[in-house]
Amino acid sequence: MSDSGDREAPGGSVPVDSATGGAARESAMAGSPTGGAAPGTADLQVVAGPAAGGAGRAALPDDHEAAPKKLGKTVHGELADAGHRVLAPDDAEVEAYLETALRAPAPERPDVDRPGGGVPRGESSETEPDTVVVLDFGSQYAQLIARRVRELHVYSELVPFDTPWAEIEKRRPRAIILSGGPSSVYDEGAPRPDPAIWSGRVPVLGICYGLHLMAKELGGDVVPATKREYGPATITVTEDDGLFEGLDRDQPVWMSHGDSIVAPPAGFRATAQTASTPFAGLADPVRRLYGIQFHPEVAHTPHGREILCNFVVGIAGARRTWTPANFVESTVSEIRARVDAHAHATGSDGKVICALSGGIDSAVAAVLVHRAVGDRLTCIYVDHGLMRKKESELLRRTFQANLGMRLVMVDARERFLTRLADVTDPEQKRRIIGDAFIRVFEEEAAKLGRIDFLTQGTLYPDVIESTAPETKAAQKIKTHHNVGGLPADLRFTLIEPLRYLFKDEVRLVGLELGLPDAMVYRQPFPGPGLAIRIIGAVTAERLDTLREADWIVIDEIKAAGLYRSLWQSFAILTPVRSVGVMGDGRTYANVVAIRAVTSEDGMTADWAKLPYDVLAAISSRIVNEVPGVNRVVYDISSKPPATIEWE
Ligand code: XMP
Repeated sequence: MSDSGDREAPGGSVPVDSATGGAARESAMAGSPTGGAAPGTADLQVVAGPAAGGAGRAALPDDHEAAPKKLGKTVHGELADAGHRVLAPDDAEVEAYLETALRAPAPERPDVDRPGGGVPRGESSETEPDTVVVLDFGSQYAQLIARRVRELHVYSELVPFDTPWAEIEKRRPRAIILSGGPSSVYDEGAPRPDPAIWSGRVPVLGICYGLHLMAKELGGDVVPATKREYGPATITVTEDDGLFEGLDRDQPVWMSHGDSIVAPPAGFRATAQTASTPFAGLADPVRRLYGIQFHPEVAHTPHGREILCNFVVGIAGARRTWTPANFVESTVSEIRARVDAHAHATGSDGKVICALSGGIDSAVAAVLVHRAVGDRLTCIYVDHGLMRKKESELLRRTFQANLGMRLVMVDARERFLTRLADVTDPEQKRRIIGDAFIRVFEEEAAKLGRIDFLTQGTLYPDVIESTAPETKAAQKIKTHHNVGGLPADLRFTLIEPLRYLFKDEVRLVGLELGLPDAMVYRQPFPGPGLAIRIIGAVTAERLDTLREADWIVIDEIKAAGLYRSLWQSFAILTPVRSVGVMGDGRTYANVVAIRAVTSEDGMTADWAKLPYDVLAAISSRIVNEVPGVNRVVYDISSKPPATIEWE
C-alpha cells in the first residue's frame, strides 16, 4: 500500500491505557453477543439542568488509594497542578473554535440524560439499554468500573456517591455498583450513599470501600486495619455460586485497602477469603447485596471481568444490548426525530453545522448526524496547512468522495502562513492560530445562512467532569478572543451524539460506521498542528521538511506494529544546524528530533523504548529522503519534567 497514512500493521494493539489491560480496544461494545434489541428512538432535547453526574463531587481525603487524578490545564489555560497543557479529546480545540465563532450557548443537559431516553418518568422502555449505576466514592478506578461494565455490552453510568435514591431510580438501574474510594468509613464526613439503596429492590455490589460501607451501614463490624493491604493477593473462594460462579477456587486479585471487616452484618455470609481476611467476599443473596474486598475492574485481577459479568448479567439479569450497531441505530433515529421536530416547529430547514478537525470524535459525530439528516449537515474543515502529509486528503476522500457528505474545505494555508511569519514564541503561535481559525469559521458559517444546530463530539468523561472548567477548552478560548461574528440572537442547540461514550467506544462506533483505521486509531494531534513542532518561525519550506520527516516516523512505527501502543509519535524540526558528510561533500543542515511516548491520558508520559532497528530505519530514511536534514536524535525525556510537545 503506497499510502502509509492508511496503513495499520497487524498486531500492533498494545494498550495505551495500562489499567485497561488492552480490553479498551477489543471489547467495549464490540459485536453484540445476543443480537440484542435495538434501543429505540428518543428525544435528545437539551434542557436546563446540571450535567449528569457532574455535580456534587466531593473532595475526598487522601488515603488508601492513590489520590484521584489531578486535572491539568487546557491548551490555553494558565497554571494547573500537573503543569502545562492537557486537553482530553484530541479535536476538542478545533470544535471549541467553531463554538466560539458561532457564539454557541454553553451546553445544558437534563439531570437524567440517557441513551434511548425520553420515556416518561417511572415508565420502563424496551428500547432503552439496561443500566448499571456506579456510585463514585472517589476511587481512581470509578470510571474504569463503568467502562468494564460497558465492555459486557451493558450501559453503565457514573454518578456522585450522594445522588438521592429518587435520582438513581429515574435511571431505572438493573444494578448498582459502589466504587472504592480513598476514605475510611470511620473518617468524619466519610461519603455515604442514600440508605434506600440497601432496600433489596436493586442488586448492589460494593467494591472495597463500597464493601466496607455495606458492612458498616448494615450492622457489621469494620475496623481500621493495622496494616494496609496493597497489591496482588490470592483469594480462596468459599462459595462458588453467585459472583464466583464458574471460577477456580483460588484467584489472583488486586487489593488496595486499609479498613477490614471483622464481623459481617446479619444475613451475610463470607464467600471468599485471603490470608489476611476471612471476609474478602460477602453475600446476602436474599437481598441481592454483594461485596468484594478487591478490585475486579483492574487488569491485575485477571478474572475480574467474569466476576462483574456474574453480577451484572447473572445476578442482576441485565440485557447485553449496548453495542455499536444498536447505538448507531438509536442515535441516528433520535437525531433525525429531533431535527425534524425543530424544523417543523420553527419552519426552518433544520440546518446543522459541524467542524471537522481530522480527529476521531468530530468525524464520528459528523457521520452519525449525516446519516440522520443528510445534506442538511454541512461540515467545515479549515486547512491551515499545519496538518501532516496526506491528512487533509484522507479527510476529503472519506467524507466527500466516500460518504458523499457536504464538506466545505477552506484552503486557508496562505492566510495562516502570513499571520505566522517570523513568530517564534509558542504561545503567540497558538493565539494566532486560534484567532485565525475563528475568523475563518465565522466567514464560512455566515455563508451558510441560518443554522439551527451545532454538532459537537463531546465525550462522556467531559460530561461527567464538566463541573471542572478546565475540561472545556471553549471556555478558556472564549476568554482569549474578542469574537465578533454572527448575530447574537441566533441561538443554536447542540447535538452531542457522543456524550454517552468513552473514547474507546467512539472508536468502535467509528469502525461500525466504516471510517478508515487511519482516522479511527489516529494518535492525538494538537490543534495548532505542526506549527508547535517547528522550533522557531514557521515557513512553507520548514513545514514541508517536517511533514516528510514526520511521515517517515509514522510509516516506520506503523510498519513495526507499534503505532497503537504509543500515545504519540512524531518528528520535531529543530533550528539547530550541524555538520555532516554525505558522499564526498560536507553538509550543514538541520537536526530533526523524534519523540515517541507512552501515556494513559497525556498528563504524564514516558519516552517509548523503541527498538533500535526501528530507530535506525527512521534515522536512515530521514537523512536520505528528506532534503535539509543530516542528523536525527531521539528524545529520551519523560513528562514531567519535559512536556510531550517541544513547544
Ligand atoms: P504537552 O506538550 O503539554 O501535551 O505534554 C499534552 C497533550 O496535549 C497536546 N497539546 C495540545 N493539544 N492544542 C491541542 O489541541 C495545543 O496547543 C496543544 N499543546 C499540546 C499534546 O499533543 C499532548 O497530547
